[in-house]
Amino acid sequence: MKKYFLLVALWCGLLGVGAQTYSLRSPDRTIVLTFSLDNKGAMSYEVQVDGLPFLRPSKMGYEEKSGRNLQNGFSLVDVQYHSQDSTWSQIWGENKWVRDLHNEMVLQLQNADAVQLTLRFKAFNDGIGFRYEYEVGGVDSILLMDELTSFDLAQEGISWSIPADFESYEHLYRKLPLSELYNANTPMTFRLENGLYGSLHEAALTDFPEMVLYKDGEHAFKATLAPWPDLVRARFAGTHCTSPWRTLALGRAAVDLINSSLILNLNEPCELTGDLSWIKPMKYVGIWWGMHLGIESWSIYDRHGATTANAKRYIDFAAKNHIDAVLYEGWNEGWETWGGQQHFDFTKPYADFDVEEVLQYAAQKGIAVISHHETGGNIPNYERQLEHTYQWLDSLGVHCVKTGYAGGIPGGYSHHGQYNVRHYRKVVLTAAQHQCMLDVHEPIKPTGIRRTYPNMMTREGARGMEWNAWSAGNPPEHYEILPFTRLLAGPMDYTPGTFDILYKNTRNLPQRKKWNDQDQGNSRVNTTLAKQLANWVILYSPLQMASDLIENYENHPAFQFFRDFNPDCDWSRALQGEIGEYVVMVRKAGDTFFLGATTNEKARRLFVPLDFLEENAYYTATVYADALDADWKYNPTAYEIYTLDNLTRDDALEVVLNQGGGQAVVLKRK
Ligand code: NOJ
Ligand code: CA
Repeated sequence: MKKYFLLVALWCGLLGVGAQTYSLRSPDRTIVLTFSLDNKGAMSYEVQVDGLPFLRPSKMGYEEKSGRNLQNGFSLVDVQYHSQDSTWSQIWGENKWVRDLHNEMVLQLQNADAVQLTLRFKAFNDGIGFRYEYEVGGVDSILLMDELTSFDLAQEGISWSIPADFESYEHLYRKLPLSELYNANTPMTFRLENGLYGSLHEAALTDFPEMVLYKDGEHAFKATLAPWPDLVRARFAGTHCTSPWRTLALGRAAVDLINSSLILNLNEPCELTGDLSWIKPMKYVGIWWGMHLGIESWSIYDRHGATTANAKRYIDFAAKNHIDAVLYEGWNEGWETWGGQQHFDFTKPYADFDVEEVLQYAAQKGIAVISHHETGGNIPNYERQLEHTYQWLDSLGVHCVKTGYAGGIPGGYSHHGQYNVRHYRKVVLTAAQHQCMLDVHEPIKPTGIRRTYPNMMTREGARGMEWNAWSAGNPPEHYEILPFTRLLAGPMDYTPGTFDILYKNTRNLPQRKKWNDQDQGNSRVNTTLAKQLANWVILYSPLQMASDLIENYENHPAFQFFRDFNPDCDWSRALQGEIGEYVVMVRKAGDTFFLGATTNEKARRLFVPLDFLEENAYYTATVYADALDADWKYNPTAYEIYTLDNLTRDDALEVVLNQGGGQAVVLKRK
């Protein structure tokens, strides 16, 4: 290998380039990444796709507080190349089997400041990733003040992203020319003028602040890290620090980004050992939407939702409707401190919620219980109770918790900074020790750590259903943007499934209280009903909620789709789509395929070949479609259900989507 790099270096020298360059190709040879060291030993990298520039030379390195030089003066000590083609399996996921096919280039660099840097580049057919591993001699800590990594896109293009905000991801997406994009959180997805698609993100964020992007040139973006209160960005005791992977996913079609396994492949294999059968996808309902609609309360001192009687009603419904679990919010003491210091007690139920009685009832009916820990952002309070709480849940047989961090973090810590990242990981590990699955709201964004810690099931981290209850709501195209942006990072607990789309059954109830000035009492969900069903397939979450009040599902023919839905899929494919326009997804679970298709405000007719079906097999399709006159704005709840028989992989579906509409199909093998 050494011989090869010497030849490259010599070749560049002969050409008088003045830089040493080292290249890495993707296995299909279409992506070429070139790393350069200039004559001052400063690092940069560039990417070509199909022989044409995709990323122009882009900076690398960090600034360190004590002045240790982490960015230039480097010389190369060694370079090694490796290739891998393996297939690994996960206990749950969009795909149970994942192929890891890549080439790797590992550069060993050093400078006169006793800094040794291992730079690891991986090139896959669906993108690239790289990360920094620093060893700094003679220090007792490393304090990173800034990351210099930039992504200098070679062309103008259109981007889809939420703003860079270290406190929240719950923003509307913006569609902006790259040249007009000033900052973005990741995944930041774009289409260049040459028609290629890309998405910038990070993988394996377990002990670092999150990375956002700030404009740094016409189409260039620089990494910016969430700070600690003292403005240090990342701190490490000792002499070593490793960054998360910086990632660029690439696709020729928009759906290639969804079908990519880049982020998972850049994470470490599963570290949980022993019998992991306690980790399993589930469908759930819960005492939740009533609070967001303003007709119930979390606190006992108001219109309390989580009473023993109500909890049992939800258990009965779950048991009757082939649903695995029930979530209870507002079951514990502390909600009365909401808006103040927010001191929740995670083992003290409210007086009208008899935990033992509820759990016993659930166990009798074979229903799992999802407990809820709203921290209000008070991390010290949660950490004080963490071990004891998860031990208690374990002893009660509760193996799933939804956490929440709605509120500022005491001490001025940034929501997405390293302090919080460490906290989230601590919760994942503590939960794992007590065989507990997690659904995190107001989380750190997903970066694929579910591969390493598969009890980290799902999370929020974008504007979910709740925004439709107390704000102007999520616009129709939100659902055709999410799969190409937020969901590229990992599963999302969006909580689809509103059937009473105009809130007709609750809007005028006397107990309804408005939330705030934004809540005009005229909120609604901006989709058709069939699109709600399709979102159960499209917005992937291994814990998938039917989020409406259960009374809105009773005797509703369209709810049969959720009864039949299996969230434990083996295989998934995004079949068609354009960002913010439309999307068609299919997932296979056992012998059954679930297909979901949705569109933005534009009605469409799509032709979907069924060539994903098994060979020599016949299927019956149950189609949940927009009715002829359905329309998200004027007639959202009109739907129809019909069946098609004896379908094979040689057939195709004609999928008709009305304005803001959708279609959900169950294809059952005969
Ligand atoms: C925000 C979460 O996203 C929501 O699901 C939850 O109900 C509230 N916080 C209260 O914890
Ligand atoms: Ca939220």
